[in-house]
Amino acid sequence: MNLAIMASGRGSNAAAILDASASDELDARPVALITNRENVGALDVAESHNVPAYAVPRLAFPSRSAQQHRMLEILQDSGADFVALAGFDAILRPFIVAAYPNRILNIHPSLLPAFAGGMAPVPQTDALRAGVRISGCTVHVVTEELDAGPIVAQAAVPVLPNDTVETLADRILEQEHRLYPLALRWFASGSARVENGLVYVDSEECQALWPHTAP
Ligand code: GRF
Repeated sequence: MNLAIMASGRGSNAAAILDASASDELDARPVALITNRENVGALDVAESHNVPAYAVPRLAFPSRSAQQHRMLEILQDSGADFVALAGFDAILRPFIVAAYPNRILNIHPSLLPAFAGGMAPVPQTDALRAGVRISGCTVHVVTEELDAGPIVAQAAVPVLPNDTVETLADRILEQEHRLYPLALRWFASGSARVENGLVYVDSEECQALWPHTAP
């Protein structure tokens, strides 16, 4: 897997993915990290992992579409054949989604389809306001519909009585860092496939967690 990461912020998920790929945990070659902002932590994360980093800020382009055409060009020039959105706060244009069918994953800090849409900390804030007893994170395949693509993996955490948005977000984030490399591993090894809007994984590790995902 030639993996590109797209991020907008501090890049803790990018770091978890790059750490996993530097160890034996994830068999992926990181080829690019793209941000839609300058001066964000994710760019430093890329640099510290010796991954080529590209800032593609909106203001350098006449339109969002032109900005994303540049991103697609970087993806293609870098040889990326798989993309991980890791805290990327722009909606991908259909031409990028179409260039990587079922080959783009995203992580969202809620148990989808609950609390879809909105960037962190909105889903965590909404979960607290709704009074749910359990929340968590979801890795899903990116389609044109926001946060609605086939679910690859989920991790649940309890919502505790004295939780603030920060404490809940931190508890979820710990699971994100564990879950995202795991989900990517299933695609890197070729054990995950998408069929009729569902993800099936031919991996013992996955089937132990979710028996219904057997192929
Ligand atoms: C995470 O909560 C992720 O679920 C969401 O954006 C946040 C990114 O955090 N999509 P980081 O930049 O990876 O630390």
